[in-house]
Amino acid sequence: MQKDLNTIVANVREKTPAIKTRAEFEAYKATISGPRGVLTDIMKGMGKVPKEDKPAIGKAINEAKMAVEAAFATVIEGLEAAELAAKIGTAIDPTLPSPDSTRGTLHPISQVREEMVDLFRRIGFSVAEATEVESEHYCFDALNIPADHPARDMQDSYYLPDDLSVNNVSKEGEEKYLLRTHTSSVQIRTMLKQKPPVRIVAPGRCFRRDTPDATHSANFHQIEGLYVDKDVTLLDLKATLDHFVKTIFGPKAKTRLRPSFFPFTEPSFEMDFFSPDLGKLSNKWLEIMGCGMVDPKVFKAVGIDPEVYTGYAFGMGIERIAMILQGVDDIRYYYQNDVRFLKQFA
Ligand code: DAH
Repeated sequence: MQKDLNTIVANVREKTPAIKTRAEFEAYKATISGPRGVLTDIMKGMGKVPKEDKPAIGKAINEAKMAVEAAFATVIEGLEAAELAAKIGTAIDPTLPSPDSTRGTLHPISQVREEMVDLFRRIGFSVAEATEVESEHYCFDALNIPADHPARDMQDSYYLPDDLSVNNVSKEGEEKYLLRTHTSSVQIRTMLKQKPPVRIVAPGRCFRRDTPDATHSANFHQIEGLYVDKDVTLLDLKATLDHFVKTIFGPKAKTRLRPSFFPFTEPSFEMDFFSPDLGKLSNKWLEIMGCGMVDPKVFKAVGIDPEVYTGYAFGMGIERIAMILQGVDDIRYYYQNDVRFLKQFA
């Protein structure tokens, strides 16, 4: 019997490597371990084996069975690999090293955001965050942005369906949900939670229905700043923004405030800067942010007494700062995830 078992195992080891299809495999397997297979026959004969021989013969059969099963498993593995290779066109070798094992780095936009946030942290600002889905109240009304302001137009903002429910953002009556068009909404949410002194920067994603071009994207990032306390003046605003520009763009940079208009600040300004060390952009006034003194109407909307407190606010696009710093002339590069671009900022 041991001889028969040896013959079976030898036969299996010899024949299985040549098997090419599932049908061939099933047919061959039937001759060994099917109901009429040779190995099955031997197993059926166990009943007639004298009792004292049973342990030895049982062990021999078991070993043969395991050898046969191992050979069959190898066949199945080969067939599966061949089937997969046929499906994807080429054979894959999962043991090959991955093509690029260098570690990733922060995205260039995140790098600039971190640099900006760090700078403000060092001069006493903390970081505030709020939701990207907003109600019209927080995005517009509380910021004194009137109902007929173009920012509120369907063409300028992404409104969400009326039947949507957003658990952590409340809205009232006819009010709509939208994706926030600026981070200024974080001013409101922060002042409702925290009494002055308030000194925060709020970095985050914003959304507008801009047609994408070299300087516009429907999804971009801003950093908002807000400082509220007793006796905060325009001089504090100017000094802080001056420090920001000189730290980010170099000590030779100059700044200027140009009168402008924002519904939530009075007076309002655009801040420009000028630097001799910016390559192609050197020695030109470049506009980088909006800012101003918090409008008393905004303070009233959050229950802060404008007779007691004053404050300044500013807001800027992170992409704009990044493009100037990194010499990138098309905003769309930031969103394409092309490693050839990203690696330049590693
Ligand atoms: N929210 C303005 C925008 O998106 C930017 C801005 C301007 C923010 C003036 C401010 C500010 O805080 O005071 O265009």
